[in-house]
Amino acid sequence: MSERVAIILAAGVSRRMATQLPKVLHEVCGRPMLAYVLDACRKVGVAKIYAVVGFGSEQVEQQFAQDEDIVWVQQDEQMGTAHAVLCCKEHLRDFNGETMVLCGDGPLVRAETLKTLIEKHQQEQAAAILATAVLKDPSGYGRIIRDRYGNIQGIVEDSSCTPEQSAISEVNPSYYLFHNKILFEAVERVKPDNVKKEYYLTDAVSNIIATGHKVVAVTAVRPEEAMGVNSRAQLSVASKIMQKRIQQKLMDQGVTIVDPQNTWIDARAQIGLDTIIEPFTYIHGEVRIGISCRIGPFAYLREGTVLEDDVVLGVYTEIKNSTLAEGVRARHHSYIGDSTVGRNVNVGAGSITANFNGRNVNQTSIGDNCYIGSGAVLIAPLSIKDGTHISAGMVVTQESIEKLQQKD
Ligand code: UD1
Ligand code: CA
Repeated sequence: MSERVAIILAAGVSRRMATQLPKVLHEVCGRPMLAYVLDACRKVGVAKIYAVVGFGSEQVEQQFAQDEDIVWVQQDEQMGTAHAVLCCKEHLRDFNGETMVLCGDGPLVRAETLKTLIEKHQQEQAAAILATAVLKDPSGYGRIIRDRYGNIQGIVEDSSCTPEQSAISEVNPSYYLFHNKILFEAVERVKPDNVKKEYYLTDAVSNIIATGHKVVAVTAVRPEEAMGVNSRAQLSVASKIMQKRIQQKLMDQGVTIVDPQNTWIDARAQIGLDTIIEPFTYIHGEVRIGISCRIGPFAYLREGTVLEDDVVLGVYTEIKNSTLAEGVRARHHSYIGDSTVGRNVNVGAGSITANFNGRNVNQTSIGDNCYIGSGAVLIAPLSIKDGTHISAGMVVTQESIEKLQQKD
């Protein structure tokens, strides 16, 4: 097997998104779009990933500063996708292997599709392979032009299509694998002769074909995987598709999701076997949920929530940055923030931790087997010993709890 690298194009300004944030940092189910593209590359094995960045590059690099397999390549002026690839020339001039090229705004790309590209490349010994999709509404995408024998002749951008070409439903999702040397020879020859005056990578593909090299297009991309996110509306559609995938995976792993349409689960969440997620539950951030829990309806679990096994959270319960031990019950209208809650604690209806005093966020610790009556306000910083009984309606401070415990 020859060595393989990936180029991810992520320098664009993204006027269609109307945003100050680099497009690839916009989140899909809690993670930046670019993170999914990186994942897909890594799953099929790449030695290095060259990420071409420009608009907002410091922000992008900062967000992925931990990822040591990324080489950041600067594209100062966004002159088109072929120009973006050409920016990697210094790094890849002498590389004799396979180069995958993907766009950072295609978060729905699946590793399985990239695997198909790689296998096809090995079978066909082609100079380039691209994966295509057939869409009901192909507008906005480059169209795949084939001859009457089905061989690919080139790609025509949406804005350059004749009416006949516009009617072609096979599109280019921008998932390519190239022989590296042939790729760079071709991108160097691309001219910006189009309405946008940009250097198109799709023209490099047409060039490779014109010089007599073998290029193969495989219709291997499911319609719901093809989307490039160019607008906020497409971002919401991509998020829905990703949400479906996240939930499907969790269900396959033994999680019950009662009403998938009305549940939202972050891509980073982990949920244990036989846990039941009731409708209108919203899970955001790196949340960990144990085995046999029951969550919701209408629960909101935020960043840093850890639930051990057999925890029950009911309607309008919000948890943030807290660990709840086995057997905790908080069935109605509670807020637990910045807390550790011991085993078998019962949190009554409407009880909250008052974790923020206007200046600082403070911690609450509740021991095992405590009973917190309805409507209690637990003012942090606060530490409650094992087995404490807090009556309904109490306002609890560290001072008042110590007095109470002295009396006992
Ligand atoms: C591109 C393809 C089109 C395909 C579609 C799939 C070209 C010319 N067109 O169109 O055939 O159907 O993707 O989603 O390649 N970028 C840079 N530098 C630049 C320009 C773009 O890094 O100078 C990056 C963008 O940040 C983006 C990606 O390349 O992540 C694609 O660019 P975009 O402008 O979104 O291309 P599309 O019009 O969607
Ligand atoms: Ca795009």
